Amino acid sequence: MNVSEIVRTRRAVRSFSDRPVKKEQVESVLRVAANAPSGSNIQPWHVYVMSGAFLDKALVEIRDKLYTGKLEAPEFPTYPEPLQEPYRTRRSECGERMYGALNIAREDKSSRVKQVMKNYEFFGAPVGLIITMEANMGESQALDIGIFAQTVMLAAREQGLDTCPQVSWTLWPRAVKEAVGIPVDQKVMLGMAMGYANSEEPVNRIEHPREPVSSFAVFRGF
Ligand SMILES: Cc1cc2nc3c(=O)[nH]c(=O)nc-3n(C[C@H](O)[C@H](O)[C@H](O)COP(=O)(O)O)c2cc1C
Repeated sequence: MNVSEIVRTRRAVRSFSDRPVKKEQVESVLRVAANAPSGSNIQPWHVYVMSGAFLDKALVEIRDKLYTGKLEAPEFPTYPEPLQEPYRTRRSECGERMYGALNIAREDKSSRVKQVMKNYEFFGAPVGLIITMEANMGESQALDIGIFAQTVMLAAREQGLDTCPQVSWTLWPRAVKEAVGIPVDQKVMLGMAMGYANSEEPVNRIEHPREPVSSFAVFRGF
């Protein structure tokens, strides 16, 4: 696959097969992704890669905290409040497309919550990644993290692996840091499920449309 094909065929995958992923495969993906650019090449990312018994134990520990019902204070907001148009509509349409693929009705709140909670199982993926940076880093470094994360996802695709980027983990920074062994002076920026998609599952076949270039790019001087 060339770069365009890799970019176009990457999908947020939310159902994974049991097929295991070796440490060497993830290392190889990360070796490629390490070439991502960052401001002044500071490479502010830290990646915690979990699998096997460690992952199972960490997920149980985190789940126990989540099910106490006490919300944590996130280290940064996921969206501005209120989220203005057109983003608000795009966000709700994205959700409806997903619940539609899963046959979950709008009123079926308990099934919707169950689906959201699958985030905290990495959607059954054999590998879970938590990406962090030092807590005193700023927006510019958050940009570096985003570029790095996309590079991880594309490098994974090249190796036939699928991913789901997950901001959900940032809602529970204390639980995640304790279970994974992440220093408290690091900020949880993103989680990522990694493995092989159950490609026939409708939830993995959602086509989220993209806006045309003319809607977001302004060309001057051409
Ligand atoms: C920074 C970021 C955070 C995301 N967080 C979540 C998440 O917590 N849970 C989830 O199911 N999907 C999450 N997604 C996936 C998006 O919903 C998905 O990328 C978007 O709907 C476009 O679909 P596609 O990736 O399949 O093209 C996230 C994506 C990004 C880039």
